[in-house]
Amino acid sequence: MSTSSALLDGMGSMRRSHRCGEIMRARVGDEVVLAGWVHRRRDHGGVIFVDLRDRTGLVQVVFRPESAPDAHARAHLLRSEWVLMVRGEIESRSDDTINPNMPTGTIEVNVRELRILNSASVPPFAIEEEIDVDEQIRLRHRLHDLRRPPLQRVLELRHDLARAVRESLSEQGFLEIETPMLARATPEGARDFLVPSRLQPGDFYALPQSPQIMKQLFMIGGCDRYYQIARCFRDEDLRADRQLEFTQIDLELSFVGVEEILAVLEKVTIDGCRACGVELEAPFRRITYAEAMDRYGSDRPDTRVLLELVDLTDVFRTSGFKAFAGVVGSGGIVKALPIADATALTRGEIDRLEKLVRKELGAKGLGWIRVEDDGSWKSPISKFLGEAEIEAIRERCKVEPGMVIFFQADTKDRANTILSRLREDLGRRLGRVDDRAWDPLLVVDFPLLEMDEKGQLTHVHQPFVAPIEEDLALLDTAPEKVRGTHYDVVLNGTELGSGSLRNHRSDVQRKILRIMGYSDEEMERSFGFLLNALETGAPPHGGFAFGFDRWVMKLAGVDNLRDVIAFPKTQRGQDLLMEAPSPVAPEQLEELALRVRLPPSRS
Ligand code: AMO
Ligand code: AMP
Repeated sequence: MSTSSALLDGMGSMRRSHRCGEIMRARVGDEVVLAGWVHRRRDHGGVIFVDLRDRTGLVQVVFRPESAPDAHARAHLLRSEWVLMVRGEIESRSDDTINPNMPTGTIEVNVRELRILNSASVPPFAIEEEIDVDEQIRLRHRLHDLRRPPLQRVLELRHDLARAVRESLSEQGFLEIETPMLARATPEGARDFLVPSRLQPGDFYALPQSPQIMKQLFMIGGCDRYYQIARCFRDEDLRADRQLEFTQIDLELSFVGVEEILAVLEKVTIDGCRACGVELEAPFRRITYAEAMDRYGSDRPDTRVLLELVDLTDVFRTSGFKAFAGVVGSGGIVKALPIADATALTRGEIDRLEKLVRKELGAKGLGWIRVEDDGSWKSPISKFLGEAEIEAIRERCKVEPGMVIFFQADTKDRANTILSRLREDLGRRLGRVDDRAWDPLLVVDFPLLEMDEKGQLTHVHQPFVAPIEEDLALLDTAPEKVRGTHYDVVLNGTELGSGSLRNHRSDVQRKILRIMGYSDEEMERSFGFLLNALETGAPPHGGFAFGFDRWVMKLAGVDNLRDVIAFPKTQRGQDLLMEAPSPVAPEQLEELALRVRLPPSRS
């Protein structure tokens, strides 16, 4: 829409006295100046009502021909999302016009003077608390979306959390120090985002996947305690809890052991949550990685869900049920999820669950047993079970009438992933949860190394994790048994963050890299500067990084990171508002000594 610019006013000397939602701080009869957007306009034959909106809320302003003929005449022109400034008096509404649904619903502002600061194109959707609009459209029109209360609240939450964390860490002696964005590619797990160098044609910077190495350099540089609210970039497949760029509350400290770091983390988590209205109690519950995997099938369990898994691997090792015995024979596991009192799970429901885990989680099947009222078993697998298996299931699953038991025989990873997903989904659906609103958890004692698909030992967390001191000698004899110092903070089933002590001795760091299959040459190429730095007098050190966006997501009670980030990327890595990524001018490529070769699908 183009509006004759003659219509528009400047602010002149008029200055806002109150925000719309804070108008109740003024008194009836006071003159106020408000500014904001036209949320809604209603023309009641003679009198015009406008709900004026800003970040803080809505207030009704009234244009009456008798009290301000000029303003009233121009108020006819107003449309949704036009930008106004008004001067007027606060008046009480009569009893029959009070709006109980609006915090400012007992008053209105009788306008004397109107300034139209800007017109606006027709909004793509209503700026309301709840809207039913496709997410693609909301992302394309993110500016309108940002004007809605849910996103405004989230931005405030981010601010409150960041501020509380800054204060907490400052109090605990941490310095906020920035690290470069244009950095060096280091193999940390995800794919790097690369930035071509103009001055060194053919060379590339990498955007940091995290400031991991840089914060270790700070410790070696004598900074003692560092933190940063840091942008991180990882070119990985996006999921609900992953974005290409995200924010970490990153920290590192010197001359500490695991316990001191966990104390810092507990305090920061509590201080941060408190600033956002959530009280957590110290000490957080602790659980080892092994126990978490065993009982919940996940290293980030929501322990409010009361269901637990049962391991039956040993029972099926020699079983006549070939499907299960075969899995155990090739290194897999058999686990069960018993659910008492599960008559609500109908046969149709179980079939749907099987389809779901097959399709979404790659399950080979979903074995199950239903225990009828008379104690008999209904099951597609019971015909394959011998006495020993039946007895073990009875005993370990505490079989009782009304129970449904699900089974998975698969690789350790997949069986656990599938059953932990069923555990949380069904536990919640069937109300098998305790009444705690918040479940903070410290998961400790992760193994240092694990076997990858190629049979090569690789890091569980990242290559710089220190082994626990007692296990140093095992690096030479049985590296797969070495316990790491890695720990995670988990909140309501989401990994908020992770960290560890680091290798401060270059000989230990080299040994671990060698075990992970790095040749001396690759080691020098990828980590040479870190290894050299470790040789300049590196103090023992360790640290942690919270996923800031994930923390906000939990506090906001949403389950997609896109709902807590001002300008998020879609599943396909696009920013629909700014239309990034985009092609660039040939001259820009020329300058960078780059030529683009499109894959056949794009050319
Ligand atoms: P890690 O890789 O576990 O550790 O990351 C720490 C935390 O960051 C969050 N996070 C993400 N959030 C959104 N989108 C992503 N793609 C994403 N990836 C990770 C998670 C995660 O727990 N340098 C180490 C930390 C350390 O050891 O100090 C690191 O980056 O909440
Ligand atoms: P089948 O003999 O393949 O028809 O399988 C019998 C039952 O066992 C079916 O209910 C399958 O879903 C289930 N099942 C098969 N393979 C597995 C497995 N690896 N883990 C769990 N259940 C399975």
